[in-house]
Amino acid sequence: MIEFRNVSKQYSPDAMALRDISLTVEKGELVFLAGPSGAGKSTLLKMIAAIERPTAGHVIVNGQDIARIKPAAVPFLRRNLGLIFQQQRLLNDRTILANVMLPLLVTGASHHQAEQRARAALDKVGLADRASSHPLALSGGEQQRVSIARAIVNRPQVILADEPTANLDRASANKVLDALKAFHSVGVTCLISSHDEQMLDAAARVIHLNQGQLEVAA
Ligand SMILES: Nc1ncnc2c1ncn2[C@@H]1O[C@H](COP(=O)(O)OP(=O)(O)O)[C@@H](O)[C@H]1O
Ligand SMILES: [Mg+2]
Repeated sequence: MIEFRNVSKQYSPDAMALRDISLTVEKGELVFLAGPSGAGKSTLLKMIAAIERPTAGHVIVNGQDIARIKPAAVPFLRRNLGLIFQQQRLLNDRTILANVMLPLLVTGASHHQAEQRARAALDKVGLADRASSHPLALSGGEQQRVSIARAIVNRPQVILADEPTANLDRASANKVLDALKAFHSVGVTCLISSHDEQMLDAAARVIHLNQGQLEVAA
């Protein structure tokens, strides 16, 4: 489903973010992407969504080469991806329900259908009763679960979550991870990055990155 073949990413002549990365993620896998700040985790996830493109090598997502994808094809690629990135904040002047309905409304769903599916998505992350609240009335962990609901409301095949547990206490972080794992358990491929080794699930596959390189597990 996702393949990196000898991928390197250089943002500037003296900044090599990823070096010669080769890896494969199978459909339905749960993968944790670990490594310290600056290791290249965000860069790797951004390339899967064609937010960044490789300087060398190939990133293949659903059979498409991200290095060669035409700009017009990017929205179709992203329709199959649920993105949970720090840059995509919730809209604080709208209700939780409105935030989660938004991705459906922009792809042409009716208001009625969008509301039904958004409520179902909020139910899946345990926030059905907060639908009419505003984001700032929720805790950080609850806001992050709203972001998950917004990311999965279009029923993507793949979820990319970049440090979804950053800045959360342990209990809230576990709830966020449980929400993500619930989607993995129904067949969604999940890639979750974290710089916090404590957040890694011992049962899951873990890919360690350090200074842009894959670390082979000892
Ligand atoms: N847009 C950018 N321009 C220049 N350098 C960048 C950019 N984004 C990331 N980098 C650099 O690439 C390296 C990897 O960054 P990043 O992928 O954000 O790592 P992580 O997510 O693991 O903290 C870092 O050295 C970072 O400074
Ligand atoms: Mg990062």
